[in-house]
Amino acid sequence: MLKPLFQPLKLASGGELPNRIVKASMEESLATEDQLPSDALIELYRQWGRGGCGLLLTGNVMVDHMAMTGPGGVALEANTELGRFQDWAEAAKAGGSKVWMQINHPGRQVFAGMKGKALSASDIPLDLGKNSKLFAQPKAMSEEEIQDVIQRFAATAKNAVAAGFDGVQIHAAHGYLITQFLSPLSNKRSDQWGGSLENRARLLLEVVKAVRAELPADAAVGIKLNSADFQRGGFQPEDAKQVVAMLDNMGVDLIELSGGSYETPAMQGRTSDERTLAREAYFLEFAEEIAQSTDIAIMTTGGVRRLEIAEKVVSSGVAAVGIATALAYHPSLPNHWQNNSMLDAIVPPIEMKNKDLAAFATMAVVKRQMRRMGNGKKPLAKPSPLFSLIKEQFRSSKLQKRYRERFAS
Ligand SMILES: Cc1cc2nc3c(=O)[nH]c(=O)nc-3n(C[C@H](O)[C@H](O)[C@H](O)COP(=O)(O)O)c2cc1C
Repeated sequence: MLKPLFQPLKLASGGELPNRIVKASMEESLATEDQLPSDALIELYRQWGRGGCGLLLTGNVMVDHMAMTGPGGVALEANTELGRFQDWAEAAKAGGSKVWMQINHPGRQVFAGMKGKALSASDIPLDLGKNSKLFAQPKAMSEEEIQDVIQRFAATAKNAVAAGFDGVQIHAAHGYLITQFLSPLSNKRSDQWGGSLENRARLLLEVVKAVRAELPADAAVGIKLNSADFQRGGFQPEDAKQVVAMLDNMGVDLIELSGGSYETPAMQGRTSDERTLAREAYFLEFAEEIAQSTDIAIMTTGGVRRLEIAEKVVSSGVAAVGIATALAYHPSLPNHWQNNSMLDAIVPPIEMKNKDLAAFATMAVVKRQMRRMGNGKKPLAKPSPLFSLIKEQFRSSKLQKRYRERFAS
């Protein structure tokens, strides 16, 4: 008898994931100067593809090359050459995993130094205390800009599937554009895109509709949604439940529940409202409750390092378990779990007094591990957070300069 984690998952669009372990999306920052997948990015997915996950979700790929979550990111637009994307999908699938491209628009979560577009539901900038000035002042989107973004999601999805990806995941979590529309803290509009939850969810629903309309019926569509943004007065678990209900019958295969934003990194286990998260599988309680209320397959990501916890997730009515950080330390963790050769992923905790710095260091360490794998090296057992942070800052400013110069004209 197969362990529950290793049972295949049938998707509504007809496909099947070979097992329930999903490599969650992690922005790799490994694009070429032309914002295409680099050799290192392709190699990284070849390695993950051999690791035994049922599904690999790519790091977020931008639908607009002028609106980037970071300077080393990949963009896929209507007229982008698909050759490197074909190589990327092929490498990821070579070991038997499925691969979906996560597609995203950052909205206001863009660095001021990038000088690209900074759009949002309203003209409310990020509040990150003394780090706020690192981020751009957003402009409230016009109707035309909203329609443009919807079409961009559809065009990116169409090209992803044309290049060989088995599906796409629409990023509607972690404070990016779609979340900025969903949250009453960042959406103060009084038109059809703001106000009631139905109006705030309209952008997500229109994106899903447009994406579905462009894809073959057997291509998968997933969504990463916040179970809450974990800020007082923000998007609440009850709102998430209602949004999931609105997505019923729209051809969605899998909803991944996460939480938080740059302002409140709940996806790293930290909140700024009265709620506390579980120490492992942070969003499991929300996921269990939502899974009971819908026929759409639900998965949850956040804080899973141990086999016992991964099994607990899929034994509680949740269809799949997402894992990010642990797979940057142990890319073959699912194979180990299947063979009972390693039960707990060893991920050294990042301990820093300054919590914002700790959040940046967490990202920096993981990006360093991904770069190493992309360059054919093994991940480090215990990378120094401070050294990784400095290295990442240095690399990020170089990439920002590269990006600015490329688009100066
Ligand atoms: C370096 C890094 C980059 C990330 N990039 C993305 C991303 O592009 N899209 C996304 O949805 N989540 C992203 N995440 C969040 C993860 O998908 C995941 O939700 C979070 O890390 C919690 O899961 P974990 O405890 O297994 O790491 C990123 C996380 C890390 C560490």
